[in-house]
Amino acid sequence: MLFSKRTNWDRKPNALNQLMDELKLQGAAIVDLTESNPTRCAFAYPPEILQSLPDAKNLQYAPDSMGTLPAREAAGRFCRFDPRRTILTSSTSESYAYLFRLLLDPGDKVLVPRPGYPLFQFLLELNDAHYEHYPLVYDQGNWRIDFNRLERLIDGRTKAIIVVNPNNPTGSYVKAEELRRLSAVCRKHGLAIISDEVFFDYRLNDGPFVSLREHNDVLTFVLGGLSKSMGLPQMKLGWMLVNGPDGLVNEALARLEIIADTFLSVNTPAQNALAAWLAHAETMRTQILQRVKSNLECLTKSGVNVLSVEGGWYAVVHAGHIDEESFVLDTLRRHHILVHPGFFFDFELPGHLVLSLLPPQERFVKIISVLGGQDG
Ligand SMILES: Cc1ncc(COP(=O)(O)O)c(C=O)c1O
Repeated sequence: MLFSKRTNWDRKPNALNQLMDELKLQGAAIVDLTESNPTRCAFAYPPEILQSLPDAKNLQYAPDSMGTLPAREAAGRFCRFDPRRTILTSSTSESYAYLFRLLLDPGDKVLVPRPGYPLFQFLLELNDAHYEHYPLVYDQGNWRIDFNRLERLIDGRTKAIIVVNPNNPTGSYVKAEELRRLSAVCRKHGLAIISDEVFFDYRLNDGPFVSLREHNDVLTFVLGGLSKSMGLPQMKLGWMLVNGPDGLVNEALARLEIIADTFLSVNTPAQNALAAWLAHAETMRTQILQRVKSNLECLTKSGVNVLSVEGGWYAVVHAGHIDEESFVLDTLRRHHILVHPGFFFDFELPGHLVLSLLPPQERFVKIISVLGGQDG
């Protein structure tokens, strides 16, 4: 076989993709409540974002493997973190790929949260890594890490634990007490922590919420980027903050520098513009947060069973004893509304649906009558 086994994916379209294709061919207008691309959700982007692009500096190529110093300083100021321990990448997905190359030999293992974000499977498989899910359990209106099960998954090949803070799609943050336990587990087994904080600033209540930025007990990587912080996925700029014991941090930075130097993937115009763009981060975050809050409020008030959500861009609905796949297909076929079934995110229990809270409210409310609420 010419091609690698790791790219031997089952590429047959699933039933949902097939139905979407059919409906698109028929010219149906689909209300897509899985939309997580903010540039398609009618936000008002400040026109100043484009002003830095014609700068003549953008015709000069003077690459710096970790990212140019002014851009790292801008990211560092934004994250309140030391720019010398900040590395720029072209996206959070790329940051993950660099970290898997840094930490894992083929066959080594990473623990990822479940329910969780489906991209991990591909990122890990592409890097010849194994993964196992540790459960987040929904208990009395709160998501918590099941530490007993997490610890049982750790073996001699385990290298790192990923936390998504707040998690996609459960919207749950890591609690201070959980961080203490996580830290103890990682110290005991010599593991690194990767904290994906792309949604950290989208807080839906007063917390308290802990970022792992300050966490230095064990080697810790905190990931973020423009894609979520400013709703600018197309600008392809992410950052990775490295914290922990000095010796490990210095070794990690030195190795990451070589990985990054191999690709030099962060484009120059985005780095040159970063400081100016980040000056508009709050404007964008405010707009996005307002949309997320008002869609969530509308869903909650309608009487639909929404699980508690602390942050991020998604809501999880528990729709009772439904067969998720039939419900989602039926909703698409009959109402032309697309939502995601919980099994896409590996929910342990059935009956869940995942909705993006980004779409404009006039589109978003269309789901409410389908879910059996009073409005819409
Ligand atoms: C939790 C989480 N991390 C990372 C990413 C990827 O972000 P980026 O666009 O920076 O690769 C996403 C995208 O949806 C996400 O939900």
